Amino acid sequence: MLSLRRPSCLRTVAIALCFALLARAEASSFRDGDYIHTSRKAQFHGSRTNWQDLLGQHCPRFGIDRLVAVPIPKPQLPFGKTDTYKLQLSFDGDRHLTPWVALLGEDAPTVPLVEVTLRRSGEELLGVTAEVRDAPEEFKRAHPVLVEELHNVTHWPKHVLVHYTFDTHNDVDLDRGLYVLFPAGLLAVLVLAFSALRGVQPKLAQFLADVTAESTTAAAAMWKGPEGKGE
Ligand SMILES: *[C@@H]1O[C@H](CO)[C@@H](O)[C@H](O)[C@H]1NC(C)=O
Repeated sequence: MLSLRRPSCLRTVAIALCFALLARAEASSFRDGDYIHTSRKAQFHGSRTNWQDLLGQHCPRFGIDRLVAVPIPKPQLPFGKTDTYKLQLSFDGDRHLTPWVALLGEDAPTVPLVEVTLRRSGEELLGVTAEVRDAPEEFKRAHPVLVEELHNVTHWPKHVLVHYTFDTHNDVDLDRGLYVLFPAGLLAVLVLAFSALRGVQPKLAQFLADVTAESTTAAAAMWKGPEGKGE
């Protein structure tokens, strides 16, 4: 009974630790400057394209803030001034998706600038958010060709500005480590205490038996003592 129970508890701890390690190993790890695999999907005329990979020059690089001009695919049907064109980006093999952002049409700003914030912790990409806003005036002045192309309905491919910014969370890794370690440690301590108690139990019984036996003999000796002396 004892020999069966103890390994099964240890096995539970081992399996729990393996799962914790696997969960960590599943996320990609990046070094500063590594390219993060990026794909884009477009929506226009009520239909969506498939995912298309971006070239390295348009992808974010881990830990580096950068501004790029990403070409957006031409819709098959003629594209009017009132048609809506939306974009979605995916990072690190579809692990992180942005919401759909409007680039052209009524909901879109005059010159769209997609602000993508990538949350990182250590070597890990934790998540991505994106929103679209109007590009700053200084940018519009500096890149008149890009602005002209955006507003020329017949000019394709157009380019959209994407600004990648990294947001670093250093504390999250430690917190997560503690969340994993604390229950595992607690479980290990419980298992150890449990098995120690079980191991001690027979010894304690033996000790108690010895003590009782000793005191009985001592009492017996004491009781016998005067009798013996009296002889
Ligand atoms: C719009 O783009 C097309 C194709 O590039 C070009 O032929 C045309 O001249 C442009 N129109 C304007 C007003 O710039």
